[in-house]
Amino acid sequence: MPEKLLYEGKAKKLFTTEDPGLLRVEYKDDATAFNGKKFDRMEGKGQLNNAISIFFFEYLGKNQIPSHFVRRISETEQLVRSVQIVPLEVVVRNVAAGSLSKRIGWDEGRELPYPIVEFYYKDDDLGDPLLAEEHIRLLELATEEEMQELKKKGLAVNKVLRPLLEQKNIRLIDFKLEFGLDQNGGLLLADEISPDTCRFWDADTGNKMDKDRFRRDLGGVTEAYREIYQRLTGDNL
Ligand code: TMP
Ligand code: ASP
Repeated sequence: MPEKLLYEGKAKKLFTTEDPGLLRVEYKDDATAFNGKKFDRMEGKGQLNNAISIFFFEYLGKNQIPSHFVRRISETEQLVRSVQIVPLEVVVRNVAAGSLSKRIGWDEGRELPYPIVEFYYKDDDLGDPLLAEEHIRLLELATEEEMQELKKKGLAVNKVLRPLLEQKNIRLIDFKLEFGLDQNGGLLLADEISPDTCRFWDADTGNKMDKDRFRRDLGGVTEAYREIYQRLTGDNL
């Protein structure tokens, strides 16, 4: 069975493979923000995000948090398990920033007393709005058990990644996760974990080392991603 393009997103392409249970993900050099309104190509971004995502998925796997990741294929590609994506973005926050700062009026950088989890509706036409649990019930996007499980898994990822990043002098401000249902109906961590989907600040200077550099026209986007990779792995890309 020849491979076919299953889906093209803003930053990745998904292809079928000979094995119906597995997909090939290709990380693109495209950068978008504000629901695709802002767009650029950044040479090397696909390679960096593929490598950083692989690093995080492998690290989480070693810490009893499985994901869809199966193995690296190439500089810009990885093999993943095919799952049915839950149309919710699970955002975990340790520190006020971005849309939370706007919504509740807390300055960016203010530490939250405890991590919080929010759900956003994965729907480009609606602009990925924040959802209350009542809305998730109404739309039947997840069951009660799944909502609890998504929160639990989001916080578990935070518990593993926050100390790891702290060791690398990186402050984990917030991040977005996606989950999919596997054949048995279990929730499996999916999509990607990269500077496109997390906020990373240098712990000393507060410098942004993530996609906010692109969103806010701060420059040095790929340089910052490269620095994240270097701090995580000790290697240069
Ligand atoms: P926000 O403060 O803009 O709501 O973003 C919260 C986190 O989610 C931040 O780490 C960036 C990430 N994120 C995505 O991965 N995709 C998105 O479309 C948005 C808006 C945020
Ligand atoms: N990923 C989204 C977009 O491409 C939004 C963002 O990350 O800011 O528009």
